[in-house]
Amino acid sequence: MIFDTHCHVYDEKYVEGEIEVIKKSIQEGVGLFMVPGDNIINSKKAIELASLFPEVYCAIGVHPSDVESLDIEEVISQLKELYKTSNKIKAIGEIGLDKYWVKDEKIIAKQKEFFIRQIELANELKLPIIIHDRDAHEDTLKILKEHPPLYGGVMHCFSGSVEYLKEILSLGLYIGLDGPVTYKNAITPKEVAKVVPLDRLLVETDSPYLTPVPFRGKINYPHYVKNVIEEICRIKSINSREIENTTCENGKKLFRIE
Ligand code: NI
Repeated sequence: MIFDTHCHVYDEKYVEGEIEVIKKSIQEGVGLFMVPGDNIINSKKAIELASLFPEVYCAIGVHPSDVESLDIEEVISQLKELYKTSNKIKAIGEIGLDKYWVKDEKIIAKQKEFFIRQIELANELKLPIIIHDRDAHEDTLKILKEHPPLYGGVMHCFSGSVEYLKEILSLGLYIGLDGPVTYKNAITPKEVAKVVPLDRLLVETDSPYLTPVPFRGKINYPHYVKNVIEEICRIKSINSREIENTTCENGKKLFRIE
């Protein structure tokens, strides 16, 4: 079975709406979806979608790009309240650091605070975390070492080197690979795909972003995860059924899906 472990199907880029996106991707062979939140409103949308489809599970959390105007205490109490509303919430995410979009040190300090507090919340609720790390490998690693996620997690859209991969694997985390692995000039993601152990790999789309080849330049859909799988098959010389099944089992294990 195919499990897209990271898709933002509620995104406004989908003119047809999230329900149609999910229906279409189910038709195209996706068996399970993990829809992460990036703020409180979208976390609620993710919960609602999970209530409509047996195939959809969700995560709740605040993305580093969204923290600027927020109050941490308020966010934590909102997340705690949300958690009580659904048994399909299987993780806290996506959370982390983003120095690509944000350069202001004050806001980065705020991102760190939100990241740490949401890891602590995940530990309290006995949930794994979904980590966003863009151009912030060193700080992300430091926080993960000082505040270990006790119920595991995934480094979503892994974008580091093979050296960084080893560090992340040593923390017991899973590695999420997406569209960039299919890009012709993406030497590092292909190296990472080659060496990442199959039992620690998850496949994702991050749709509607990061569209894989041959759809690059267009909007991304959860079922395009098949193109990510196909490229990993080629790189690892493993057949697609094995990649599909193992990454699906890995996702179910991490998110404790029966
Ligand atoms: Ni995402």
